[in-house]
This record gives sequence, C-alpha cells and structure tokens, in this order.
Amino acid sequence: MPPAIEANGLTKTYGDVRVLDALDLHVPRGTVFALLGPNGAGKTTTVRILATLTTPDAGHARVAGHDVVTARSRVRRAISLTGQFAAVDEAQTGAENLWTAARLSGLSRPAAARRAAELLDRFGLTEAGGRLTKTYSGGMRRRLDLAAGLVRDPGATQVMFLDEPTTGLDPRSRQELWQAVRELSDAGTTVFLTTQYLEEADRLADRIAVLGRGRTLAEGTPAELKARYAAHRLDVVASDEESYARLTDRTIHAATRDPGTRTLGIPTDGSAAHVRELLDVLDPGRRDIARFGLHTATLDDVFLTLTEDKEPSHV
Ligand SMILES: Nc1ncnc2c1ncn2[C@@H]1O[C@H](COP(=O)(O)OP(=O)(O)OP(=O)(O)O)[C@@H](O)[C@H]1O
Ligand SMILES: [Mg+2]
Repeated sequence: MPPAIEANGLTKTYGDVRVLDALDLHVPRGTVFALLGPNGAGKTTTVRILATLTTPDAGHARVAGHDVVTARSRVRRAISLTGQFAAVDEAQTGAENLWTAARLSGLSRPAAARRAAELLDRFGLTEAGGRLTKTYSGGMRRRLDLAAGLVRDPGATQVMFLDEPTTGLDPRSRQELWQAVRELSDAGTTVFLTTQYLEEADRLADRIAVLGRGRTLAEGTPAELKARYAAHRLDVVASDEESYARLTDRTIHAATRDPGTRTLGIPTDGSAAHVRELLDVLDPGRRDIARFGLHTATLDDVFLTLTEDKEPSHV
C-alpha cells in the first residue's frame, strides 16, 4: 500500500516569493499529521496542492497513491477538504447546506437527512439548523463548514484535509472537532491538518512538521520534537574555578558552557529522577555545584525558535 501522502520537491512561487522551496512530505496511512507554521508559511498552499486545487511549479505529490497533477479526479474521489475560509451557501439554512453536501457526496435522500441532523447535533447547531447561514456568527459558520467537510462516510474518505480547523472555535467546539478527528482516525482515515496551536498538534498528531522558509524545519513525533528541540535544560553553577573544571570533566555533553559565570547547561527530560541523577553524577562529593536552575522549554519555544525568520525567501 502506498503512503497516504508522499511529496517530493514541491515548489511554488507567487510573483517573486518562493512559498514552497522543494518541500518533502511523507504521511503513512491511518495517521494524523499536523503541519505547523507561522502566518504565510505556506500551509494553505501545501493543502491546496495536495487537494488538487492548485498545481506545483516543480516537484511531485501523490495522495492515496494518485498523482495530484495527472490523476486529479482520482485524488478528489479519495479526499475530503475543509478549508481555512468557510464555503457555506449564505442563502441556505445550515441544515440545507449539510444536506446538499451529503447528497453531493453520494448519500441517498434519507441518509443525507440523517447525516445532516447528526452533524448539526454534534457541532451544537441543531437549534440554528433551520436559520439561513447569513445570520450565523463567525464561529457558527466555521462549525458548519467543518460539519460539511465531515459529511462523507468516513469509509469513503481516505485522506481528510483540515486547514486550521479550530481557528476561531470556542473551547467546546474545539473539543468536538478534536473528537471528530480521533474518530476519523480510528475509522482508518488519514488526517492532514494545519494548525497554529502546538497544543493541538501535540494532542492529535502522530507526527508534526514545522514549515518555514518553504521547507520543513523539523519533523517528528511530538515527543521527538520536544526531546530534540524543547528538552529542559539543567543549568548548574560551579562553586569556584576548580569545581567548574571538575564539573566540565564529568559532563559528557553540555548544551551550553559559560566559564565566565561557571555555568554548564545540561539537557534533561526535566523529571525529578533524571535531575537528581545528573546532580549526583556531576557532583558526587556534593561540593562542586553551588546552585542549579531548571529551564523548561515548551513546544511553543521550539516553534518560535524554528520559525524566527518569518520572511519568505525571495527568488
Ligand atoms: N494566489 C496567491 N497569489 C499570490 N500570493 C499568494 C497566493 N496564495 C498564497 N500566496 C502567498 O503565499 C504565501 C503563503 O500563503 P499561505 O496561504 O500558503 O500561508 P499559510 O501558511 O496558510 O498562512 P496562514 O497561517 O496565514 O493561513 C503568503 O505570502 C501569501 O501571500
Ligand atoms: Mg493558511
């Protein structure tokens, strides 16, 4: 079985801005993949290429085993997409919008009505379902758009694209969406989502890629990314020069060394057990370390560090 998504060297330029610069992606089937990146990083552009809404200038991508340029209709049959910008028909009610989407996805009339009612209920829109969507608030539209994206029988959707699905949602709706993603994933659908929220990626995704400067700056499981880029750091301050020398000798790898302040920074997972062990190994006689401090980095720190340079690269 080919992977759900395989992209090699995707490149896309708008004007003189290279939005994607030889982007590679690999998403195994049945997994949840989160693409993170600051505004303008190219997340929506990536989703649009993978969902066949736009073509890459160079590179190739296959979704559900089909080429996104030469086999567009096959890709389209295998995917569902909910975009960053709601595509609801203002002149229809919420229920009608969902019913139409369900019919378009091939459900019979009664099945479409059942599905619409289910989704309205799930996203807290049952009462509003009979109202024209032009009267909906921003968050209600967002929910309706998501519901429309979930209308297809999960069995028929091999890959679900969700572009910033929870932006602008209230906490309860966000939980609903998270639950919906988990259910889709349990049913075997591969989920490709973009988000600004690391917490969300952390909770939902099997793997995360951080997009910046048109490429993936980092890729891995949430735990790997934290361990690699956001591990805690134990800073130990030596009592005096000799102590600093002894600590340096006993340190296998220090993240930072500052002889001026006699401080060594040592990576740790931050657990009490590991910190104790480090202190014991570094200072068995309990006289070389005068003070220590534990610095907690979060995935947000990783994200900010990795994406500091927000400017897209110019061609
Ligand atoms: N059709 C277009 N024409 C010109 N420039 C575009 C077009 N689409 C996107 N861009 C530019 O490409 C860059 C990436 O846009 P994209 O929408 O992919 O970013 P994003 O990561 O989804 O950002 P956001 O977090 O704000 O949604 C931006 O600089 C944007 O202005
Ligand atoms: Mg976007």
